[in-house]
Amino acid sequence: MTRPDRRDSRTLRESSTAVHAGNLPDPTTGAIKTPLTLANSYEFPYDPTSIDWSVNDQLLYTRVSGTNQLGLQAKLAALEGAEAAAAFASGVAATHAVFFTYLNAGDHVVCSEVVYEATFNLLTDLLPRKYGISATFVDATDPAAVEAAMRPETRLVFAETVANPTTLVADLPMLAGIAHAHDALLVVDSTFTPPPVLRPIEHGADLVVHSITKYINGHGDGLGGAVLGRASLIDPIKQQAMVDAGGVIAPFNAWLIQRGAATLPLRMRQVNESARRIAEFLDADPRVAWVRYPGLASHPQHELAARLMPRGCSGMIAFAPHGDTAALNAFVSRLRLITSATSLGHDESLIAHFAKSGPRQDRYGRPFTDHGTLRLSVGIEDVEDLLADLDAALG
Ligand SMILES: Cc1ncc(COP(=O)(O)O)c(C=O)c1O
Repeated sequence: MTRPDRRDSRTLRESSTAVHAGNLPDPTTGAIKTPLTLANSYEFPYDPTSIDWSVNDQLLYTRVSGTNQLGLQAKLAALEGAEAAAAFASGVAATHAVFFTYLNAGDHVVCSEVVYEATFNLLTDLLPRKYGISATFVDATDPAAVEAAMRPETRLVFAETVANPTTLVADLPMLAGIAHAHDALLVVDSTFTPPPVLRPIEHGADLVVHSITKYINGHGDGLGGAVLGRASLIDPIKQQAMVDAGGVIAPFNAWLIQRGAATLPLRMRQVNESARRIAEFLDADPRVAWVRYPGLASHPQHELAARLMPRGCSGMIAFAPHGDTAALNAFVSRLRLITSATSLGHDESLIAHFAKSGPRQDRYGRPFTDHGTLRLSVGIEDVEDLLADLDAALG
């Protein structure tokens, strides 16, 4: 695959970038889309001893690189405004790749108290138990709490841009300021806020992690993760977590997600608009006990959200109708269009019910009331149909 990319994505606007960046036409057949390459090896040059195996992104072996991985990484980097991207087998593998590369025994992480469960488990159990790495969980909205948690051995500050599932918004410039003053990296999981909704690097983040399983793929049919940032930070991640630890994305998933990402800006425009309308509908409805959506004036961090996401706050809404766990299950069972399932960012709207019943759910307590949380991922269906579905199920 030697033909150069004719389109320089640096000069293109976001939808054109999403369509064209990373697409490597096939010079042997003339196919205008990067074909799916399942061969796991690429032919050596005449003198294979001349190969520098420490250089990533060479077409040698799929665990090092492949045409589909390269195309996907180029598209993701262009969309995120990052110098480089590394694609992994899942979002969790991408988060792990950052920890694996940048943390050594004795190091410390300051982490927002509301993060995805696997991140929480890595930082509270697996990394401390196996490698002697420690983490302090803080209210990441409170600069004094973040500052007080920093130690000389703190290497990373970690937060979700909009937290799963509480929709807590990370104050990226504030967190970056504190992290950098202590020579630490700010790493954010931006799964809830894909580009062009939010580009965390523009607000001071050093590394951006995505579960590309979600919005970036957008069709609920692939699994992948990505880490994006400066090439000097991404190269060691590729060498250690991809080449040496093997968390690489499979060519088929890379192909599928690259195809899905071509419509990301288009889909996010619809998602931003539909989610705002649905959040406003829920907020105004007396049958609903509470709603959290960063785009609503009632969200405690609405001003910050509006600054970080001026064109819309993505599609994740947390809410609950009045009633107990049984009432919430009954509400979900009455939905006809919105599907009850985990995951998010799909073409179809999804709803997930988290009951507040055990110690894990206690982390979700603030700022919610004492019953469960419904996490709604607004899809790209007609918003009038989604509103009608919610209205009918509220009874
Ligand atoms: C915020 C966030 N980060 C990471 C992940 C993990 O992604 P994956 O399922 O692709 O490993 C998820 C999955 O739901 C998530 O919501």
